[in-house]
Amino acid sequence: MNLELTEAQRGARDVARRFAREKLDRIGVEVDRTHEFPQEAVAELGQLGMLGVFIPEQYGGAGLDNVAYALVVEELSVECASTGVIVSAHCSLGSWPILGTGDEAQRQRYLPRMASGEWLGCFALTEPQAGSDAAGQKTRAIRDGDSYVINGTKNFITNGPEAGVCILFANTAPEQGHHGISAFIVETACPGFQVVRTEDKMGIHGAHSAQLSFSDLRVPRENLLAGEGEGFKVAMKTLDGGRIGIAAQAVGIARASLQASLNYAQERKSFGNPLASYQAIQWKLADMAVEVDAARLLTLQAASLKDMGRPSTKQSAMAKLFAAETAMKAATEAVQIHGGYGYTKEFKVERFFRDAKITEIYEGTSEIQRLVISSHVLQNR
Ligand code: CAA
Repeated sequence: MNLELTEAQRGARDVARRFAREKLDRIGVEVDRTHEFPQEAVAELGQLGMLGVFIPEQYGGAGLDNVAYALVVEELSVECASTGVIVSAHCSLGSWPILGTGDEAQRQRYLPRMASGEWLGCFALTEPQAGSDAAGQKTRAIRDGDSYVINGTKNFITNGPEAGVCILFANTAPEQGHHGISAFIVETACPGFQVVRTEDKMGIHGAHSAQLSFSDLRVPRENLLAGEGEGFKVAMKTLDGGRIGIAAQAVGIARASLQASLNYAQERKSFGNPLASYQAIQWKLADMAVEVDAARLLTLQAASLKDMGRPSTKQSAMAKLFAAETAMKAATEAVQIHGGYGYTKEFKVERFFRDAKITEIYEGTSEIQRLVISSHVLQNR
């Protein structure tokens, strides 16, 4: 077993780390306050190849792998978890379904523009009444000659307002349960595609989560992904990768929480001594350090399995579950170590606390991850 990163993986991580420290440090603070989408940073990330890390070079990507991608998302999320999820939703949820389940014409039309950042991607699965129960899709797609006509509503769609391309799930045969769900590539400029509103959220303020509605949206038949009725599997396979991205985002938030705590515990004095001299604080720091490393190892394990073309469903769910709970725990401890100051907006740990929470919810709640993991371990898979 070799735990060393390759030169290319280290290179991608270092580029992302430098960009995060130079640009996202400030942007992370700003977008939390203004709720603005970090447009300029995302455009620069496109130029740096960070929006197509695992997209092969033949489709305009950087031609790297999922391990490099996870490292990039972690680095971005240390400084700005909003940018982390914008990149993760674009790559894992927007681009991957086309790369992993699309045909050659679809790959050639969409991937180069997505890898460059010209078109941002989003993934529209969740509906007002279909969150954890993703099979309960009410959005309807009806075949009409060489196209499908789509009507319905989607909720909490990351990148929804900014996306040029949307991977949209709709029911083509409601009587067939999850076998009646189909996936479509939708160009968001098409008539009938509407952004209804963006949610006013607790955290990740720079990443916009939108309600989308489709009113007689006409999608050409050649934009069907993987065949009629294959949509549920497209969604599940996509989420296997998406959960690696969210795990990496959570590792980034946890690492930022640890770093802020290390700094503060050495600067701040209490009863005449630095906080770091007290065992109560040392133990918190030790636990945080162990859990950050463990979360990263689980995340890279899942990414590495995906790179080898092996099933990663269980390991992706494990990584997402553990990393999300680590982020929440680390951010909570970071606020605790900062005391009253940690509860103010003067210190970044207040933002880390709010940003961490969503990692336990989106792309499958922690309860759903436990469901996926338990179904695998019970069947000895
Ligand atoms: N890969 C491929 N196929 C899979 C699969 C996977 N990982 N998981 C399941 N399937 C297949 C099964 O083999 C089965 O196929 P057959 O019927 O042909 O045998 C089919 O899918 C149904 O499987 P299950 O019976 O296990 O499905 P279920 O309905 O019992 O449970 C679930 C599925 C795990 C609960 C699933 O609904 C789920 O993951 N829910 C959470 C949804 C989610 O994560 N939503 C987040 C949306 S994205 C987001 O957060 C927004 C954003 O922008 C960030």
